[in-house]
Amino acid sequence: MNYIENLTTPQIKKIHSGKVRESFRIDPNTRMIVATDRVSAFDQVLKTPIPGKGAVLNGIASFWFEKTRDIIDNHLIEVIDPNISLVREATPIRIEMIVRAYLTGSMWRNYSKGKREFSGIKVGDNLKKHRRFPELLLTPTTKEESDREISPKEIIDQGWVDADIYEQMESISLQLFKRAEEYLEKRNLILVDTKYEFGLVDDKLVLIDEIHTPDSSRFWMADNYNKDPENAIQMDKEVVRAYLLQNKVNDHYRDELPQEIVHEAATRYNQIFEMITGEAPSFDISNVKNRIYQNLVRRELMKEGYVVIVMGSSADVEHCEKMKKVVEKYDIFSEMRVMSAHKNGEDIIANMAEYDNSVEPGAVIAVAGLSNGLGGALGANLSLPVINCPPFKDQTDIMVNVNSSLMMPSKTPAATVVKPESAALVALRSLNVQRLRDTFRKEVQEVKSKLREDDKKIRGM
Ligand SMILES: Nc1ncnc2c1ncn2[C@@H]1O[C@H](COP(=O)(O)OP(=O)(O)OP(=O)(O)O)[C@@H](O)[C@H]1O
Ligand SMILES: [Mg+2]
Repeated sequence: MNYIENLTTPQIKKIHSGKVRESFRIDPNTRMIVATDRVSAFDQVLKTPIPGKGAVLNGIASFWFEKTRDIIDNHLIEVIDPNISLVREATPIRIEMIVRAYLTGSMWRNYSKGKREFSGIKVGDNLKKHRRFPELLLTPTTKEESDREISPKEIIDQGWVDADIYEQMESISLQLFKRAEEYLEKRNLILVDTKYEFGLVDDKLVLIDEIHTPDSSRFWMADNYNKDPENAIQMDKEVVRAYLLQNKVNDHYRDELPQEIVHEAATRYNQIFEMITGEAPSFDISNVKNRIYQNLVRRELMKEGYVVIVMGSSADVEHCEKMKKVVEKYDIFSEMRVMSAHKNGEDIIANMAEYDNSVEPGAVIAVAGLSNGLGGALGANLSLPVINCPPFKDQTDIMVNVNSSLMMPSKTPAATVVKPESAALVALRSLNVQRLRDTFRKEVQEVKSKLREDDKKIRGM
């Protein structure tokens, strides 16, 4: 697939899923931010992703983070994949610093209805749509369930942040904006407005989130603006918005885009990347999920695959531990879960979704005796290899327990392996990971050599 809509893995904890980006916890000081290819318009996330968009956004943000480090330190540690950045964890200040150079967007809509005060700032009566303000305007909002305008005085009085820090935020926001304007002027681009987010790391102010990306900013093309300011078009999402506006169904926006609009939008994102950074994007998007998987493994942020051991009851934990030990010996991620097909079967699909959609290869071992519904439920509902390994107390008990695993209904693929160590090995082999295949081939050879040695010894040779 040439896009990523969702990064899912049982190996790294997802801590936040926004409209477009997903945040993961690497360690208490490090967060991983994944810019997906999701696109939102009119406050809804569309079902159709835009290939390359996430990489463009992540690339533009890192470009600006580097270009502005002399103004303020920022959270970026490293870009580890075109769509992914590792950043320093900050204590976020729950205020969005919105800087505006032109009257447009929601501010224009409210202004045209008569509103004159924005985040505590009074504006004049004769302003026109899309006209530049005499000087840059700062209209902070809170980051809450629903954002609201807030004046600098309220920000300080209500304790959102200390006065001295707020003053720094103001001055830095304006400096950042001016830096971008100066730079973009030569590139036929107008930075119309944007928002900055700040946080504290060791009591020091740092810039967090993203900077000067099409998702946090509005850009116009200067020549397009100069020709007809009132109708200047927003560079990135305009095609998407125009399509949705013109194709409403029963007065509702559609939530899907046709391929030609997707293609057009992708081209626009690439164009904006090139206009900002001066280089055409060269991300390999031929198989994005696989590229991400490779990069996460290379950075040792995940193992090459996982085996999840699902038991019907925690009474079987000892049996499961045996398998987990084998899996971990091969440096593959393993975890145990408790779910009963009969008793809380409704949870299985929800709980297993993150495994089923994972970027890395995985396998499931189902541990349930007596009447094994678990392996069947997993086999019938997932795309992963499922191996039954029923628990047993002794050789007679095996017979009772294994039987209910052997016969599965149609389209319910679940294999059955009796010995827990073997079940783990079958699961590992099913991952089809090259490193493991090399290891297993070597192990097979070792067994053969050992047998030949033993044969020689026994014959006294
Ligand atoms: N370095 C950081 N340390 C701590 N929090 C951060 C850092 N960088 C960004 N954040 C926070 O992570 C969250 C990123 O969320 P994201 O932008 O994906 O979604 P959102 O802001 O909740 O919603 P939306 O999709 O509407 O933007 C924000 O709350 C942002 O303040
Ligand atoms: Mg956000």
